[in-house]
Amino acid sequence: MDVKKLLKKMNLEEKIGQMLQIAPHNFISKSDTKIHGFEYDLGLTNKQVFSAGSVLGIGNAKEQQELQRKYLNDSRLKIPLLFMADIVHGYETIFPIPLALSCSWNTDTAFHSARISAVEASTAGIQVTFSPMADLSREPRWGRVMEGYGEDPYLLSMFVRAMVKGYQQDDISAKGNIASCVKHFAGYGAPIAGLDYNTVDMSRLSFYQTYLGGYEAAIDEGSKMVMASFNTFDGIPATVNQFLMIDVLRNQLNFNGVTITDYDGLNQVIAHRVAHDQREAAIQGVEAKIDIEMASSCYMKNIEKLIETSIINENDINAAVGRILSFKNELGLFDNPYGHANIDDEKRLIKSKEHLAKAKEIAQECAVLLKNESNILPLSNNSKVAVVGPYATSKSTNGVWSWKGSINDNISLSEALINQGVDVVYINGENPLPTDIDMLREIDIVICALGEDIEKTGEAKSIVNLELPLFQVEWIKLAKILKKKVVTVLYNGRPLVLNNIDQSDAILEAWYLGSKSNEALTDLLIGKINPSGKLTMSFPRHEGQIPIYYNHLTTGRPFNKDVHNIYTSFYLDCERTPKYPFGYGLSYSKFEYENMIMSDKEIYLDESITASITITNKSNVAGYEIVQLYIQDEVSKIARPEKELKGFKKILIQPYETKTVKFNICIKDLSYINSLGETKYEYGRFIIMIGSNSNNVQKKYIFFKENNNEDKKYTW
Ligand code: NOJ
Repeated sequence: MDVKKLLKKMNLEEKIGQMLQIAPHNFISKSDTKIHGFEYDLGLTNKQVFSAGSVLGIGNAKEQQELQRKYLNDSRLKIPLLFMADIVHGYETIFPIPLALSCSWNTDTAFHSARISAVEASTAGIQVTFSPMADLSREPRWGRVMEGYGEDPYLLSMFVRAMVKGYQQDDISAKGNIASCVKHFAGYGAPIAGLDYNTVDMSRLSFYQTYLGGYEAAIDEGSKMVMASFNTFDGIPATVNQFLMIDVLRNQLNFNGVTITDYDGLNQVIAHRVAHDQREAAIQGVEAKIDIEMASSCYMKNIEKLIETSIINENDINAAVGRILSFKNELGLFDNPYGHANIDDEKRLIKSKEHLAKAKEIAQECAVLLKNESNILPLSNNSKVAVVGPYATSKSTNGVWSWKGSINDNISLSEALINQGVDVVYINGENPLPTDIDMLREIDIVICALGEDIEKTGEAKSIVNLELPLFQVEWIKLAKILKKKVVTVLYNGRPLVLNNIDQSDAILEAWYLGSKSNEALTDLLIGKINPSGKLTMSFPRHEGQIPIYYNHLTTGRPFNKDVHNIYTSFYLDCERTPKYPFGYGLSYSKFEYENMIMSDKEIYLDESITASITITNKSNVAGYEIVQLYIQDEVSKIARPEKELKGFKKILIQPYETKTVKFNICIKDLSYINSLGETKYEYGRFIIMIGSNSNNVQKKYIFFKENNNEDKKYTW
């Protein structure tokens, strides 16, 4: 399709239509039916609704095909509709929530889950997914941390890349692929006080160093669309923020694809009080080069007039529509408007045996063993077990943003344990506490399946209390009164404050692992699979520590536990460290790190250096260990974090085997980004750290020097 020629044939109304996205239900009936519901509130005429160029959400291949057919019948120029939806961690085969996925520290899990999501969703007629969410977050109060990949920019970027690659592969028009729309640009993961949609107020330094990388990785990997975020940034809503949308996105990151608002985002510029009305919002949207307006009608109702009165230049509209049409063309829609929607493929591929098997395999990698006193886990063969608490009988393990997944496909933890032959003699998922505790007396281990109500996680689900409800904790107390061992399995979408379940002998962080969650967890509990996940967000001791994250600056008065000085940076009433740090997670194997070696003490421009360490599995259980590399820039012109993740490797170590792990360190790993977004290199000393988590590392020093003869250690 020659997009330029097509654009020339289009009248203004048709062009503006391409810039509107609405839900599909209005199209499904005939174009002359009365408009109702949300689109009615938008104040659009039938004709305007039917000129919309894209659709948010579609049920299945049949609906998509019918809708596209009707639409094209009515359409003068036969420009196909584009179907977008939120496929976040699976279509019908549901994978672990993104936060859990990142705890695998294996980007293959992201790639394969995105691949399968794309294969399933494309058969149902979806062409674009609003994923990945590349919002870095240090805010467990914010419900949407479950949709992200943790607190670290490096790890986040790696996962975001794998997701984009999994959805798109190398060709968005090919069968089984869908295009990715990265979101929410930008900084949405840092709302003040963890309150969803709240103001974001950060320095440019923080923005460039910490928050931008995730979106940048997605764009660099080829993500075709970018969604603007709801928040303000420097006092201007991101949707119309020209610094974000033009200076950074279009100019610094060279993004030339399609941008879209979040739901009703352009209209909300009025609620933010930076526009008086929809007319002003439309002007600001066009000036920020926002191409598609999702679910509001500022463009549709105003652009024509704004062009007539020369307030907006039609060339800007042509540019936006040109981008949209080129995207449709790249998706192959002009040749095949239905994309890969196919009823037979839907039946064959969705929730296929292979897809579900992969979902289980991935889920097994994402749970994190937080505690395992006296090696109470794995469960021994002859243990008599009780399974209690709200998740004992619940199948609700999909996590939010799994609108096409059905919990009826899942099984509960107690069912899964029984299926694996565990001697489950008591199950109670109903009542907070049993009246007849005699049943519990013959039991060896009480498995407390506790956690957050799924509806307390995700969008608009901010909370201030991160502790488990007391009625759940009562289960642990009761078990302890009866002198039973307690294994707590935690289902949740954010880091929690876990002090009130300290009495548990073992804690398995289960997150929401999707369709095969409880089968996967059972394999871990019985030791069929050895846990290998590690945390990607710090777990605080108290809500008052938030935001708490491992890669913080040092402060001018750092706390030193060995030197008594009250004028240092610490809390009077709480330790300053997290309860469980970033990168932490246990295994049934016992790994010992020793003998860290640097291939050289000095590194020069354009060179690299190797850091290695040996790890021995001092147990009779084979296991995966996630080995982490951190670097500290000791002194530089701007204060730098105590440590930053720069690499990781997940390796299988057989019983009593010793393996050497090597990391290649190059100059890029020693660089930083300044407040203008420029990459900077400074000579000097760096601390290289390798360890099993961010709080348990071995250290070596290296010098970054300009040349061999240079002897000034600390100059720039
Ligand atoms: C609002 C959410 O913020 C966004 O992530 C999502 O993609 C849109 N709604 C569309 O469902």
